[in-house]
Amino acid sequence: MSHTTIDVLTAGDVLARLAQLRSRQPVNYYAFYSSQLGGIVTDPALMVLPFDDHMVHRGHGIFDTAGLIDGKLYDLEAHLDRFLLSAERSKLTVSPPRAEMRDIILKTTAASGRRDGSIRYWLSSGPGSLELSPAAGAEPGFFVMVFAGLAYPERWLTQGVKVMTTTYPIKAPIYAITKATNYLPNVLMQMQAKEAGFDNGVFIDEDGNVGESSNMNVAFVTKHDTLVHPKFDHILAGCTSLRLLELAKGLKSSGLIKSVEVRDITAAEARASREMLLMGSSVKVASIVQWDDRAIGDGKPGPVAKALLTLLDEDMRTGDRLIDVPY
Ligand SMILES: Cc1ncc(COP(=O)(O)O)c(C=O)c1O
Repeated sequence: MSHTTIDVLTAGDVLARLAQLRSRQPVNYYAFYSSQLGGIVTDPALMVLPFDDHMVHRGHGIFDTAGLIDGKLYDLEAHLDRFLLSAERSKLTVSPPRAEMRDIILKTTAASGRRDGSIRYWLSSGPGSLELSPAAGAEPGFFVMVFAGLAYPERWLTQGVKVMTTTYPIKAPIYAITKATNYLPNVLMQMQAKEAGFDNGVFIDEDGNVGESSNMNVAFVTKHDTLVHPKFDHILAGCTSLRLLELAKGLKSSGLIKSVEVRDITAAEARASREMLLMGSSVKVASIVQWDDRAIGDGKPGPVAKALLTLLDEDMRTGDRLIDVPY
């Protein structure tokens, strides 16, 4: 037996060590609401939840993320719709009600003082046991985090993104359409791609149809100038994709695309595309210029990706899907 002593900690020790942990690993978290604490904290050391919450040890929780742009939340209602759908599919008790959730999200954002970043929120099954089913009398947890948002290298925009087909199986549809805190396949896919020198991975389903990337959707511009997006029955319905599919109709008059289709697309058809797009709340729109060992189109970021990014940026700044944060 080793002679190293392990301290038995007081509550004061724990607070001090949580602060030390954050000083070793500084994070960009600006405000956190916890229904379990019944309030908001702004010190990242205090952004904690009980270990026996089933979201931690069984992955019985869901989440969603909305963008904060220039003091306004973008497309929050679409993200809340998906959040509540995920809750239903995960048999999680929705508490508090939607209107209160929206209010808490806005007030937590206001407490952060931030005008740009991301807001992520979770619903958990709650603490009370180490079993699988929720503990008797477990109170669901609702948490909101205001943070800097995910960052991607500038070259993703200037030079484009390289993706690889992952060897990890795509999630079964019922799990893929639910935004639960079970991202193991997505994590492994991204790690595998990075280890192989790519930026990210792509799931292909058992029928050979294109799925999605780790935390983003993919779409294609075919040789016939059709914008094709995979169906949403086996992948997450990205709020960004859904919005872009609407906005893309505005590109028809410019001649950049002729039509927009949501349908199955095989990897073989997809590889012959003129453009391949990566779309999501964090990345917005980026061009994929290489897929496995082959270039997409001419191997350079394409015009449809650029035009869609401009439309999305406009929508995020001046569109009708913005909610003012009550600072
Ligand atoms: C697996 C997966 N697919 C797609 C997306 C894109 O969704 P959104 O556009 O709502 O960010 C996300 C991100 O939420 C995701 O996690």
